[in-house]
Amino acid sequence: MLEVLLYPDPRLRRVSTQVEEFDDPLRELAAEMIQTMTTESGVGLAAPQVGISIRLLVMNPSGEEGDDHALVNPRITASSGRETGEEGCLSFPGIYASLVRKTEIKIEAQDLDGQAVEWTLNGFPARVVLHELDHLDGILFVDRMTPAERIRWRPRLRELSRQASDAAQAADVPGV
Ligand code: CO
Repeated sequence: MLEVLLYPDPRLRRVSTQVEEFDDPLRELAAEMIQTMTTESGVGLAAPQVGISIRLLVMNPSGEEGDDHALVNPRITASSGRETGEEGCLSFPGIYASLVRKTEIKIEAQDLDGQAVEWTLNGFPARVVLHELDHLDGILFVDRMTPAERIRWRPRLRELSRQASDAAQAADVPGV
């Protein structure tokens, strides 16, 4: 079980690097990310959310057992449509917002062995990939909220910031 970084951890803002080595540590990381996503009842998780800034994401948009996927170095090659849908994020506990995303996307990526994969996704699975792809570029779903949604969630965002600074302060207290 990996620790999921919470907003406003600065590591969530890093731009992740391409994966070059398709080795056992990469596959182990993906397996641990899938376990963490499942335990946290998430539908997707990006490597930067566990503090590792590489272009790897895992997802299970159906929420069904075993329907887990890992994508390495994903990129959008085509997209169309626009629709509004509800999103949450494991790095923002308790925050949900309606965001506009592309309806249909075509992606090229690699699997955990470095083999090329090409997917066409529609609706919710497309939304999950777009959300996780944003994480790989240090973009967070609050960045895509409407101004009204951001105002609505400001108290909760402040609370998360306060909790993070309290935790940092507690960690600075020297042991006796
Ligand atoms: Co997220």
